[in-house]
Amino acid sequence: MAIERTFSIIKPDATRRNLTGAINAVIENAGLKIVAQKRIRMTREEAETFYAVHKERPFFGELVAFMISGPVVVQVLEGENAVAKYREVMGATNPANAAEGTIRKLFAESIEANSAHGSDSTDNAKVEIAQFFSGNEIVG
Ligand code: TYD
Repeated sequence: MAIERTFSIIKPDATRRNLTGAINAVIENAGLKIVAQKRIRMTREEAETFYAVHKERPFFGELVAFMISGPVVVQVLEGENAVAKYREVMGATNPANAAEGTIRKLFAESIEANSAHGSDSTDNAKVEIAQFFSGNEIVG
């Protein structure tokens, strides 16, 4: 199996409720290693760029407003099949459909305030990591 890296965001609903450590415990217990992490406040421009793929969707404006409503923790996670594994650990986008034990089942408030982001492909992971981290900030 391939050692991969994926990009993660602990979203504002989770930082507001002081859940960074609880979410990191789920990540680490799943065998993923946090190889970079920083707490930031996203700018509107950063959030719009990050979610550009959704810019025609009806929820885009609210999603951007939510992502800049408070601090986020951006992370790089490393491990075997990290992209698919972290999608599994996060659970379904809508917490109502998320499996037991997943981050979104445990912590999400709604489909929008769903506590975590994880890249959906290795290609997108590379683009997303590069948006927020320089190479020397990632320590494997
Ligand atoms: P999406 O890429 O479909 O999901 P995921 O985060 O699981 O990869 O959507 C991106 C984010 O957009 C999602 O995490 C929350 C938000 N969103 C809404 O606010 N409303 C919606 O109806 C959908 C589909 C997503």
